[in-house]
This record gives sequence, structure tokens and C-alpha cells, in this order.
Amino acid sequence: MARVQIWDLPVRIFHWLLAAALVTAFTIALTVDDESATFAFHYLAGSVAGFLVLLRIVWGVVGSRWARFRDFTFGPSALAGYLRAALFGGDGARYVGHNPATSWAVIAMFALILSIVTTGLLMGSGGEAFEEIHEILAWTLAAVVGAHVAGVALHTVRHQENIGAAMVTGQREAEPTQAITSTRPLVGVALLAAVGAFAFGVSRGYDAAAGTVTLPLLGTFAVGEGGEGDEGGDHDGASDEGGDRDGASGEGDEDDDADEGADEH
Ligand code: HEM
Ligand code: HEM
Repeated sequence: MARVQIWDLPVRIFHWLLAAALVTAFTIALTVDDESATFAFHYLAGSVAGFLVLLRIVWGVVGSRWARFRDFTFGPSALAGYLRAALFGGDGARYVGHNPATSWAVIAMFALILSIVTTGLLMGSGGEAFEEIHEILAWTLAAVVGAHVAGVALHTVRHQENIGAAMVTGQREAEPTQAITSTRPLVGVALLAAVGAFAFGVSRGYDAAAGTVTLPLLGTFAVGEGGEGDEGGDHDGASDEGGDRDGASGEGDEDDDADEGADEH
């Protein structure tokens, strides 16, 4: 056994960007009024999380060895054996890539995130039902993430192995033959560029006055209270201009949006 490279750079960048995007989306959802201008960052962080998952799914097919879904372990007996050893002690099989619990957790997280983003986008036009589902799924996701982090903590203590650090350096104790041959740095840089471009596109596509967000490739969605029609002020735009636009001064592209709107007409 030696310290060898297991996680390529795209997996590590994906992991920490996803964690940051979800923490941001949650923190804003729980602390900011959904009619305030700052809530736009909830849409931004949430859609970035969805975009990251889509890219990660592609990487799960074409990525390096331990990033591939083919190298995840899904067998029910492997999962049962793993959980038994993890919870009640004893010698379970050691996994270099994702263990059975993480493999299932990853699939659950991806499905939940994509569903949460979809219901978030449909909420403005579909009303209450999507809002309920959005929140239930979000709390389910929080539970899965909580179990994931608890599992990482348990592993760290029980096996005296800092696997959290492994998600930073990419290195774990393993057989030299299990090492990946490249950390795929160029794909890592391309991932950062793609996420940056996507985030930029979403913030340019956000129109506070109209209550819409336009996502690259996906089209325009009414967000927040947009579709419920109980806030007349949200729709005529003019009354919002002063307060909301100044409030969102951090984004700096609000004025551009107004220009774009004018171009379209
Ligand atoms: C919002 C918080 C978090 C989310 C959403 C999250 C999500 C994920 C996902 C999706 C994976 C699979 C990675 C891949 O194959 O692409 C993963 C793996 C991993 N994460 Fe997290 N994570 C979070 C927080 C953390 C924290 C705080 C730590 C450590 C301190 C951590 C440590 C790890 C490790 C070690 C793995 C590999 C585990 C294994 O395969 O057995 N994660 N996480
Ligand atoms: C994975 C990403 C996301 C997570 C984890 C998430 C989580 C949440 C949570 C927990 C709430 C409930 C806040 C409360 O208790 O009032 C919420 C509300 C909301 N979310 Fe998301 N969300 C995500 C993505 C999105 C996206 C992409 C959109 C739209 C583009 C969106 C639109 C909304 C709206 C409009 C509300 C307010 C609903 C209300 O009136 O209470 N979310 N979100």
C-alpha cells in the first residue's frame, strides 16, 4: 500500500463546488425573505448545483477510473455488508473508490438535486404543489447530506484515515496499480470555466422586474411569486425598480438586463 492518486481534479472541484452551492442555496432559503432581491442568489446557487450534477453525470461515463459509475458498488449484499461493518464493527471489505453507501448516497443526491431544481423552476408557473414538493425534497436532500457527512466522520475516526483530506488532495492509501494515471487538470480547468460561464449566464438572464430567470439552453422561467399573481407590484416592474435594483447592486448586471429587455422589443 502507498499513497496514490484516486480522485481526479474534476471530481474534487465538483465535490466542493456542489457542497458550496447547496450550503448557499439552503442558507439563503432559510434566512432570506423570498421576495427580497437577495433571494436571486438562491436561484443562482440552486441552478449551479443542478448544472454541476449534469456535468458530473457525463464525467461518470467518460471520466477517470474511480469517477465512473461503472466503478461504483451498488450490489444490495455489498451494501448490507458494508453497513453492518460500519455500524456494528468488524472487518468489512475496503473500497478504494466509492463504497456501497456512498454510491447509493451519490445517486440519491443527484436525483434529489435535479428534482429540486426542476420543481424550483416550475414553481413560478405551477403554484403551491411544486413549492411543497420543492421543500420536502430539499429536506430529504439535507438528510442524505447529513448522513453522508456523518459517515465520513465515522470512517475518519474508526479507520484513522482522513478521507475528507483525500477529497482535497485526491490521494488515499491503495495499491499502486489502483492509481489513476492523470488528475485530468485540463478537464478541471474546463469545468471551472463552464460553471463560471453558466453562473454568469444565469445572472445575466435574471430579470428582477419581470420576475423571470432565463437559463442557458433551457429557456425562461417565472420564479418566486411570479406566477401566483398576488403581488401586483412584482409584475408592473416600475414600482420595483428603485428598491430592488439598488438592493441587488452586488450583481452589477441589473442595468444590462434592462438594456437587453429593451433590445428584445
Ligand atoms: C453539502 C455538503 C456535501 C455534499 C453535497 C457532498 C456530496 C458528495 C458527493 C456527491 C460525493 C460523490 C463525489 C463524486 O463521485 O463526484 C461525495 C463524496 C465524498 N465526500 Fe462529500 N459532500 C458534502 C460534504 C462533505 C464534507 C464536509 C466532507 C468531509 C469533511 C466530504 C467528504 C467526502 C468524501 C471523503 C467523499 C468520498 C467518499 C467515498 O467515496 O467513500 N463531503 N460527497
Ligand atoms: C438544489 C438546489 C436547491 C435547494 C437545496 C433549494 C432549497 C430550498 C428550500 C429549503 C426552500 C424552503 C425555504 C422556506 O422554508 O421557506 C426553498 C424555497 C424556494 N426555492 Fe429553492 N432550492 C434549490 C433550488 C432552487 C431553484 C433552482 C429555484 C428556482 C429557480 C428555487 C426556487 C425557490 C423558491 C421560489 C422558493 C420559495 C418558496 C416559498 O415561497 O416559500 N430553488 N428552496
